[in-house]
Amino acid sequence: MERKIEKLISEMTLDEKLGQLTQEVTNVSSIDKLSKLAEQGMLGSCLLTDTPWAGSVTMEGISVSYLNKIQRAAVEKSRLGIPVMYGCDIIHGSKTIFPIPLAQAATWDYDLIRDAASVMSEEASYDSIHWTFAPMLDICCDPRWGRIIETPGEDPLIGQMFAKASVEGIQGKDMSEKGKLAACAKHYIGYGASSGGRDKDGTEWSDYSLRNRALPAFKAAIDENVATVMSAFNEISGQPATSSKYHLTDLLKGELGFDGFVVSDFDAVKRLTCQGVSDNDETSAVLAINAGVDMDMADGLYKNNLKSAVEKGLVSMSVIDEAVRRVLRIKFRMGLFDNPYADENVSPEEYMKKEYLEKAKQVSMHAMVLLQNNGVLPLAKGTKVSVKGPMAEEKPALLGSWHAEGQADDVVSLGEGIQKINGEENTFVHPCTQEDMYCNDDFSNVYIVAVGESEKVTGEGCTISNIELSGRQVDCIRAAKELGKKVVAVIFAGRPLAITSIVPYCDAILWAWHGGTMCGEAAAEIIFGDFNPSGKLPVTIPRSTGQIPICYNHQRNEYVKAWYSTHHRYVSKDSLSTPLFEFGFGLSYSDYQYSNFEYRFNSACQQAEISFDVTNSGDHEGYEIAQCYICDIVASMSRPVKELKAFEKIHLKKGETKKVTLTLSKDDLSFYDGRGNFVFEEGEFRIEIGKSSSNICFETTEYISFES
Ligand code: GLC
Repeated sequence: MERKIEKLISEMTLDEKLGQLTQEVTNVSSIDKLSKLAEQGMLGSCLLTDTPWAGSVTMEGISVSYLNKIQRAAVEKSRLGIPVMYGCDIIHGSKTIFPIPLAQAATWDYDLIRDAASVMSEEASYDSIHWTFAPMLDICCDPRWGRIIETPGEDPLIGQMFAKASVEGIQGKDMSEKGKLAACAKHYIGYGASSGGRDKDGTEWSDYSLRNRALPAFKAAIDENVATVMSAFNEISGQPATSSKYHLTDLLKGELGFDGFVVSDFDAVKRLTCQGVSDNDETSAVLAINAGVDMDMADGLYKNNLKSAVEKGLVSMSVIDEAVRRVLRIKFRMGLFDNPYADENVSPEEYMKKEYLEKAKQVSMHAMVLLQNNGVLPLAKGTKVSVKGPMAEEKPALLGSWHAEGQADDVVSLGEGIQKINGEENTFVHPCTQEDMYCNDDFSNVYIVAVGESEKVTGEGCTISNIELSGRQVDCIRAAKELGKKVVAVIFAGRPLAITSIVPYCDAILWAWHGGTMCGEAAAEIIFGDFNPSGKLPVTIPRSTGQIPICYNHQRNEYVKAWYSTHHRYVSKDSLSTPLFEFGFGLSYSDYQYSNFEYRFNSACQQAEISFDVTNSGDHEGYEIAQCYICDIVASMSRPVKELKAFEKIHLKKGETKKVTLTLSKDDLSFYDGRGNFVFEEGEFRIEIGKSSSNICFETTEYISFES
């Protein structure tokens, strides 16, 4: 393959090289322009949309025959026959929509995340999509930022799991296989810490924090051979990511050995002028290509400026050739040269087939988090219930942002899901506002009240300054309580919302997320006990907007005592340091008892091991996620108050006991020291086993060292 690449590079003109480094936006009217560029060997890639909000508008009219026509021009009419790479945002589903990525992270389940990625890629491949701009790996603990819904949450270890599982699902072990796509780890790097949660605002990262918090997920994606990486919009402490040689070349391609290619975000090269590091397009293009951005998305700056830049000696031909080398390498690995065309006769039954929908429902059920339950759930089937609230029949929101080709009409609403499992005769669906909440429908004394947020206030460009429940939704829930009903709140949200004010009125709270096409059915199956909820929060839920940013793995502070002293949720409403619901929290219909803890250092394997028994003492089978947190008590840098370093999700039948052994390797206990060194410093570590980041069942402090 490398020989073929070098031969092609030796034959390519500079124009053809710059064509390979250009991704054009695509819409129905551009087919002739794109076919002509393809024929001239000037079309490296197409972004299958013409707006940066690609994930929430369908690819109107961009059919497989349309794309094959352009591809034929490239492969059969151009001088060198290099195929075009079609990319778009398949983030959590193509037509069958899975829960948003933040919800998928709440499953803590590698296999489910991988399967979701695999299904979405297979379904997308029917539409001649070769490349998806997923997984998004921006660690984030600021729910004002609408794009938090696209992230795996606030924790680096969950981020690493999400990265690896997603890339494996999207690319498989061989990207050229049918139904597999090239993945894209984005947005490199640090975008999730936008100042004030304001999308595309600057970010402040020390190298210490960046390497210990934001980098691990990208490293995991690279270890899984991710094909591409997308450079981010944000500046990293004043250095725009898209023009940062240190981050893109020295760190990503050098130190981490990434051998795929870097694509800029949409117009991110052109935006260097508004970030104040350039005042013209040629300088922007020169900065980006010399920093290590190989392909330019949408703004055309490479093809329009780099020829003159090379002639002026601002960019060396070797830099251009290295970028082309990386693009061609991925095209070969994807098998595009061997199979450039897509099947134009895919039968409609291939889309949204039963097993896709079943998988989507399974992921949605595992993602949901039971936040409160005084025993009212699970309801017995046949119970007379009223499904109330503004989202009782909601469909579009349940798809979430970045829903690609997903259709709201295909979504199962909560009302429909409950009617299906509980019978229409027992279910009164009454989507209503606060006013008619007071009308006692005396149909039932159990109100299931559906509230949350629209998908339109989540995703790109959607920053909000108040994360409380909007409108009169709190009144809806209070009204139900004042009518003397049993109140089950179901929250359809993308980001964590400060739902503090509804907690006193609820007998149960189920956090259902924007859970995809099958969300309403998944929620109904949990409410009526067909599935025992097991989801755990991958992100902190604050008490109020004023607490943001708040995360479990914060640096040490004087609140640390308050943080640990709270085994109750409402120790004090004005407590600044305890969240409403902590990272790793989630209830079940079962009680899980942890016992027989044993710590040992396994010299043969050079790892610390904590083993313990988990017993399901409840009367429902279910999944429990046992978590291991550590604190490096004294080190050369101040380490977080605690960090998740291992976890295991186990299935337990009623009464069943299983032994769990969680291990800590030298790498698990090492950290970047702020001077670029990844170090282990022997000494005392506090090790905790918990059901959440603050519900700790076992704690020990051990002196740990490893043989060098
Ligand atoms: C957008 C997003 C990015 C997306 C790209 C293509 O601006 O930032 O996540 O993949 O453009 O749609």
